[in-house]
Amino acid sequence: MAKISVSTLLKKKQAGEKITSLTAYDASFAKLFADNGVDAVLVGDSLGMVLQGGDDTLAVSIDDIAYHTKCVRAGSRELFVIADMPFMTYNNVEQSCANAATLMRAGANMVKLEGGQWLHDSIRALTQQGVPVCGHLGLTPQSVHVFGGFKIQGRDKEQADKMIADARALEAAGAQLLVLECIPSVLAKAITEAVSIPTIGIGAGKDTDGQILVMHDLVGISAGYIPKFSKNFLAETGNMPAAVKKYCDDVKSGAFPGPDHEFN
Ligand code: KIV
Repeated sequence: MAKISVSTLLKKKQAGEKITSLTAYDASFAKLFADNGVDAVLVGDSLGMVLQGGDDTLAVSIDDIAYHTKCVRAGSRELFVIADMPFMTYNNVEQSCANAATLMRAGANMVKLEGGQWLHDSIRALTQQGVPVCGHLGLTPQSVHVFGGFKIQGRDKEQADKMIADARALEAAGAQLLVLECIPSVLAKAITEAVSIPTIGIGAGKDTDGQILVMHDLVGISAGYIPKFSKNFLAETGNMPAAVKKYCDDVKSGAFPGPDHEFN
């Protein structure tokens, strides 16, 4: 497998080739994903839920993400590794830079921040100092208590217009990738067309430039609950390598996500 970089991901968008992505938290799964067609992995703060058993992601620390980033990088030198900046670790420019440096030194290729226009100064400082940034809009889990639960975002026009403006602002600040989570498919398509950086969707329909799933959802072990936007690929294939390969093949062919996995 050739080493994946931020330019590989941009070229895929430009060529209309889908980007395949999963969350990963350790070396064994990182290697399995690299061997079976995954382009990028996210060391997500979802680990607060799927590894640590929390009700949300808020208790995750920068040291937790740094530790799991090191583990993931040990499993593959080629995968593109995005590391999540946890809740309250990017309040201001200085704090954003110090925490992002910890994650880059642990082996990340890029850091991910949740939020829109207000992140402008941090993103600018990070990119100017050599840290590639991924934005994250829609159902941003660190704001679950503001949303009043894990709810679909961007359903009314005002929210949708603001999200498109936020996406443009993130790109203008220097972000090079954008995760769109649990938003109507038409809005995800509009955002994907409004920016020139690649978009990666989760519960955002088939028209984003790539897809990501929490790996526990892909194999149906997220506390027995599979979100509507996900699919148990292990049940369909019977073994882990085949499940990962089928997910990647279905993302690339456009078979996943289907109409049953999207929101209107
Ligand atoms: O933390 C995470 O795993 C994420 C994905 C759901 C995109 O942010």
